[in-house]
Amino acid sequence: MIKIVEYKDEYAKELSEIILSNLYKINIKDHGKEIIDKVAKQFSEEEIKKNFSKRTKCLVALKDNEVVGTASIDKYKGDETNKKYIILTVFVKIQNHHQGIGRKLIENIEDIAKNIGCKELIIYASVYACEFYRKFGFDYLNSKKVQNEDKEYILIKTF
Ligand SMILES: CC(C)(COP(=O)(O)OP(=O)(O)OC[C@H]1O[C@@H](n2cnc3c(N)ncnc32)[C@H](O)[C@@H]1OP(=O)(O)O)[C@@H](O)C(=O)NCCC(=O)NCCS
Repeated sequence: MIKIVEYKDEYAKELSEIILSNLYKINIKDHGKEIIDKVAKQFSEEEIKKNFSKRTKCLVALKDNEVVGTASIDKYKGDETNKKYIILTVFVKIQNHHQGIGRKLIENIEDIAKNIGCKELIIYASVYACEFYRKFGFDYLNSKKVQNEDKEYILIKTF
């Protein structure tokens, strides 16, 4: 049974482990060690405790009360319309990939987005996750598949 709940600091340690193991076992293959080392600094237990609760909403997936995933939504920096939001930090515990947990997280994030008047959702996607987001109707920005300096692709979905 998967439950989606709001982030609490008590989840930070397990979230850090889940995120770092995905980064170093999966994402490193596409993005390389230098980029992953830089990204990983944001996801120590301490950094998570400092930052995740400040986001518009941070969700955590629990399977039988064990932490198995996370996804956040936050305001898109620099947007003055209050209609643009960004999806951040979507990670599912490796042993639980392909069980529908990522889908549950994104569906919940989309519901929140609609409720807060979001008209454009943006994601800086890992190479590994692009096709996952495309399943939810996200498309490459300007329909062009271009990588940024961290080798991420920018995808958007409008409502
Ligand atoms: C990407 C990620 C969050 C997907 O989570 P998940 O729980 O395995 O996804 P789900 O089981 O809910 O899959 C939903 C759908 O997407 C598909 N899918 C899942 N991962 C996919 C991938 N990497 N590539 C293509 N399709 C994928 C599933 O087959 C499923 O399709 P279906 O509904 O047609 O059967 C997870 O693989 C992950 O944590 N990856 C490593 C970290 C990462 O890159 N995160 C994204 C940062 S931007």
